Amino acid sequence: MNTYEQVVELAKRRGFFWQAFSIYGGEAGFYDYGPLGVLMRDNITKVWKESYLRDEAVFIDTPVIVPSTVFRASGHIDKFADLATECSKCHNKQKLDTVVKASGFQKTFRSVEEANRFLQENVVKCVVCGNRITQATEFKLMFRMPGQGSSGDLYLRPETAQGIFVNFKLLSNFYRNKLPMAVAQLGKGFRNEISPRQTLIRLREFTQGEIEVFVDPERKYWKEPAGSMPVNLNPRSGESVSMDVVTALKNGIMSSNAMAYFVEKTASILTEVGIDSARLRFRQVPTDELAHYSFDTWDVEALLDDDWVEVVGIADRNDLKNHEKASGESMSVLVDGKSITPSIIEPSYGIDRIFLSVLVHAFYVRDNGFKVLRLPDEIAPYHAAILPLVNKDGMDSMARDFYERIKRVDPYVVYDQSGSIGRRYARQDEIGTPYCITFDSQSTQDGTVTVRERDSARQIRVASQDLLSTGIIGNEKIRSAFRSS
Ligand code: GAP
Repeated sequence: MNTYEQVVELAKRRGFFWQAFSIYGGEAGFYDYGPLGVLMRDNITKVWKESYLRDEAVFIDTPVIVPSTVFRASGHIDKFADLATECSKCHNKQKLDTVVKASGFQKTFRSVEEANRFLQENVVKCVVCGNRITQATEFKLMFRMPGQGSSGDLYLRPETAQGIFVNFKLLSNFYRNKLPMAVAQLGKGFRNEISPRQTLIRLREFTQGEIEVFVDPERKYWKEPAGSMPVNLNPRSGESVSMDVVTALKNGIMSSNAMAYFVEKTASILTEVGIDSARLRFRQVPTDELAHYSFDTWDVEALLDDDWVEVVGIADRNDLKNHEKASGESMSVLVDGKSITPSIIEPSYGIDRIFLSVLVHAFYVRDNGFKVLRLPDEIAPYHAAILPLVNKDGMDSMARDFYERIKRVDPYVVYDQSGSIGRRYARQDEIGTPYCITFDSQSTQDGTVTVRERDSARQIRVASQDLLSTGIIGNEKIRSAFRSS
């Protein structure tokens, strides 16, 4: 089993995520988050949200069901589609790109006609049964509710972004007509993927955290990036480099200050939540692969075993002009006497794929075969487990009493009294709990406890009373003993 497969097995067994509706055989592209998954996903989105709050973004929440007028204006009704193939023998449905690539070709297509010409002239085979594929079709990616709206169809949104764009004027008033302005939304997106696959990677219902940064199109400026961290860049033309974004901007690798700023910020958020910077790259999307709304996009990709998976897309887009034209409402702001219809730089975070990548990068197996998740303290579902060494001699009642009191300081704790202490440590390591607080016979004498750290398995002794005032991951003695690097 590769790391991804081991993580999927662990995730189901220990309550991170699993296929939805499984008692009825499941439904492709839908996954449930279990008790630990919900806690960890919330911790990831908290880091994301607080980072953007510090950047003075405002947050809104708009409906997931959207009238067709919005998606006609945005171009999604016409253009948000993939080319698909269905094997005439085994009826397996796939994205055309996947099938063509598996047959050894590197090719993207702009129309069904172009694709069908290619399929007639070249031998492309079904990835499942090997039968020759000769036909491609256009497959629309939005879920449609025919005739349900007051003026036609309704759609489940495929991105949260449009809910922000259509509110631009109201938001601009809220922001006192200043540019640049950043508006964020965290919520569900829906896509009728041709072949949902690989658990959380290609879902039909998923969570996005999107920030729409409205900028002057002639300047595309947000704030100065620090330029202090090198990032792995794969530009559209030229060699891959590891370089800070300030140098990349000077060398013309990044097209705007705002793009450079959000590339750096994204690298910082992703590494903070636990993605390994050595397995993270920024790939500028080739022109013929760009989404219909984008002029320039940097895909942010995490390496999972041997596959690079897009976890975030940072796009340069221009949707306000489309909504202005279709709605007749002005989408401009007056800045220093100049009327400006802003451009948009959009970092769009796929929370499920980030969540999965964090788990894969955190996973390792000890020499003794025990599995561990090396999660950052703030991302792990629980900050600590409270354990009596044995369930007698006052250790159990003292541990239980401490647990009841520490929960009021830090609710991300769990009590575990069943099985040997070694077995309990292993159970907590496997779900990424950074610290185990154990009450032993000395605890009953002097009120101290052992704090065992997950990765080193080292232990220190601290006064339990101190933990009640500082919390566990906020305790300086614990931090300096184990997180000094
Ligand atoms: N508003 C821009 C936009 O939606 P995108 O690149 O299509 O851009 C952004 O999506 C992110 O959303 C992706 O990088 C990915 O992490 C996530 N995402 C997109 N489709 C997904 C799917 N079917 N399942 C899980 N995550 C998905």
